[in-house]
Amino acid sequence: MTQDELKVMVAKAALDYIPKNAVLGVGSGSTVMKFIEQIGISKAKVAKAVSSSNKTTEALKSVGVQVVDPNEVEPYEVYIDGADEVDPNFNMIKGGGACLTREKILTSMASKFICIVDKSKLVQTLGKFPLPVEIIPMAREQVARTLKELGGNPVLREGCITDNGCEILDVHGLNITDPVALEQKINQIPGVVTVGLFASKGADIVLYATEDGVKVLKRN
Ligand code: A5P
Repeated sequence: MTQDELKVMVAKAALDYIPKNAVLGVGSGSTVMKFIEQIGISKAKVAKAVSSSNKTTEALKSVGVQVVDPNEVEPYEVYIDGADEVDPNFNMIKGGGACLTREKILTSMASKFICIVDKSKLVQTLGKFPLPVEIIPMAREQVARTLKELGGNPVLREGCITDNGCEILDVHGLNITDPVALEQKINQIPGVVTVGLFASKGADIVLYATEDGVKVLKRN
């Protein structure tokens, strides 16, 4: 099975988690795009959605889902999104698609984060995937120095300007054994908008696709 087929499989499984008559939070990335396609194909009913990127907003509208401003909704139940890496404690690296800040905002409003991935995203320790950090452009060099002091090797993502008009440093070479502590440390660096570590609020349910079907992991 190809990775694409696995993504479609998990996208279909995620349809069961769409809440009835309530706001749905929708993330970004290729797996989420497949999920949105499945909403269109299955004609699943989504009352309304909040979206984590301009691309997601367009895709949702194209399948007839009403997208509303997060400022217009109360905290809601379900947020569905992919991840670049997920560890056994439900901590995640996200931001490969540069949408980490809006993803984190929508995560903070949701009581349940449903993470949809294929099995290749499950890791023992986070950090092989370079950790995305969204930054204010004028702080780039100073943030990079501080990230080096933390043991990483930050690389500017060339040609990438986020939906918020910011830049991304991808931090290579980290072996993240304490994700909550590292998330807090990086968040405190002046000029950092968001770090793509989702640990203080990680996933609640992980759906991951394998050749034998979709498996479900639930936080205790
Ligand atoms: C987008 O910024 C990311 O957080 C995505 O959730 C993550 O990169 C996973 O994307 P794929 O589903 O494309 O692997």
